[in-house]
Amino acid sequence: MLAAMSIPPTDQVPGPAIHVQGLEKSYKELRVLRGVDLDVARGSIFALLGSNGAGKTTVVKILSTLLKADTGTARVNGFDVATQAAGVRESISLTGQFAAVDEILSGRENLVLVARLRHLTDPGAIADELLRRFSLTEAGARRAATYSGGMRRRLDIAMSLIGSPPLIFLDEPTAGLDPEARIDVWQAVKELAEGGTTVLLTTQYLDEAEQLADRIAILHQGRIIVNGTLAELRRLLPPAKVEYVEKQPSLEDVFFAVVGEGDKDGQDHKTRSSEK
Ligand SMILES: Nc1ncnc2c1ncn2[C@@H]1O[C@H](COP(=O)(O)OP(=O)(O)O)[C@@H](O)[C@H]1O
Ligand SMILES: [Mg+2]
Repeated sequence: MLAAMSIPPTDQVPGPAIHVQGLEKSYKELRVLRGVDLDVARGSIFALLGSNGAGKTTVVKILSTLLKADTGTARVNGFDVATQAAGVRESISLTGQFAAVDEILSGRENLVLVARLRHLTDPGAIADELLRRFSLTEAGARRAATYSGGMRRRLDIAMSLIGSPPLIFLDEPTAGLDPEARIDVWQAVKELAEGGTTVLLTTQYLDEAEQLADRIAILHQGRIIVNGTLAELRRLLPPAKVEYVEKQPSLEDVFFAVVGEGDKDGQDHKTRSSEK
């Protein structure tokens, strides 16, 4: 979790919440991003989908000013990530792949601490409201060390909402969570977007992108190879190609194999997991 100040969603400059063009990034010889372009509309949930090592975290780090791109431009809430880092940081909050809560403190104390750091009035009331919103009221007085993975992740997301940033980055928000905890986190993310927050999340899970995202972009070999709504993505596929699921499918294989079959309600991913 990182810098979120009190810029209410109404304070936004026009244009997309995130605009990325020609982003390139290498780690020495390893060319991770080879020209990434994407736009994220305000108030939407955008899923950056990619297999392990595709460069999702690299994109998030660049967008949150933790890492500099080699070339290309990125604007977040209207601010250039390279030249207006402070504006970007005031517009966003970042929840990383590994929960950043203080284990020794209680859930409530974690929230109060962040609210104090942000110089907000009545940190206790803010903490109580967030505990309620994330179904952590009963656990609020307990040390975070005793929380399950899902509770910890919800607390982490709650902490990153303090100060109401208009944009939130969630890097693999449900990695390592059990199915029930994943659904809880999904619910929390949906509520965020309903409240007007723009959410950019990364995931390796097709069902997560399906459940949550207004738009899905697939990051593959350093580029966005597909970008659209789920319905648009489905229309890209010739039905004849959907015939089998390989035993060790790449993300792309899984995608092409599963998209286009089943119905569009929440049940179809169950069918899919039983096919793997
Ligand atoms: N600081 C770094 N130095 C060298 N290689 C890195 C560094 N960070 C990430 N990588 C490599 O870059 C690739 C993309 O990493 P990452 O953005 O973390 O992917 P993802 O989040 O999609 O799993 C991986 O091959 C990873 O090993
Ligand atoms: Mg990552």
